[in-house]
Amino acid sequence: MTQQWKCTDYQTYADFVPALGVDVLGLLNPQTGEKILDLGCGDGALTSKILALGADVVGLDAADELATAAEKRGLSILRLDAHGFSMPCTFDAVFSNAAMHWMHSPEKVIANVAASLKPGGRFVAEQGGFGNVAALSTAILAALDAMNLPLPEKFPWDFPTPEQQTQRLENAGLRVDVMQLFYRPTPLPKGIKGWLQTFISPFVDGASEKDRENVIHHAVRWLTPILKDASGQWMADYVRLRYRATKP
Ligand code: BEZ
Repeated sequence: MTQQWKCTDYQTYADFVPALGVDVLGLLNPQTGEKILDLGCGDGALTSKILALGADVVGLDAADELATAAEKRGLSILRLDAHGFSMPCTFDAVFSNAAMHWMHSPEKVIANVAASLKPGGRFVAEQGGFGNVAALSTAILAALDAMNLPLPEKFPWDFPTPEQQTQRLENAGLRVDVMQLFYRPTPLPKGIKGWLQTFISPFVDGASEKDRENVIHHAVRWLTPILKDASGQWMADYVRLRYRATKP
């Protein structure tokens, strides 16, 4: 059950992810000279904005293609799994946009984040929250079922409630200052097919190319009355969880 990252697909069909992530940079409020770790930095679109604001930022991402794209922007990138890293130094802040929902053991990742922060350091993140992409996921699962293809044993993403995430952060010794769950219907200017092609891989591991295409075809048909408006604009049913937690 793995996501295959193709940098060109991500930049073509999901470029709105870092674009919308700019808001959470306001909550991070990076200061000149601060040491900041960008956890799950992807192709480095937001990491480079943090750098431009004067911080001393390093990105961390285990996906080789994305890490290479980030390095091409001139960024320092650690190719490490967020579940297993430990740092030789501590940071003023750890930042993460649209990455925490990919973590299969978020508790482990949060423990690593807490260990990487200086006392007084902050963890600022945005990720999918409870109910995120519910229509999109249901359509994919229904398409798999209709085609008698196996359903994944485990849902591939972690979309916690504010209460769950608060508990996890507190268990790691962090104090939660901000925790917001909000609905963010997100226009998909390039349509729904590209989104599905980019993000469907954890559901269709091992399926043939033809089955994969058919799953997408069914899902698009079922999603049309739900996520496509009268003007022909597709919207993704995104729900975000945004938080800031401090190490005492
Ligand atoms: C998200 O950013 O919410 C998301 C991205 C990929 C798959 C599912 C959700």
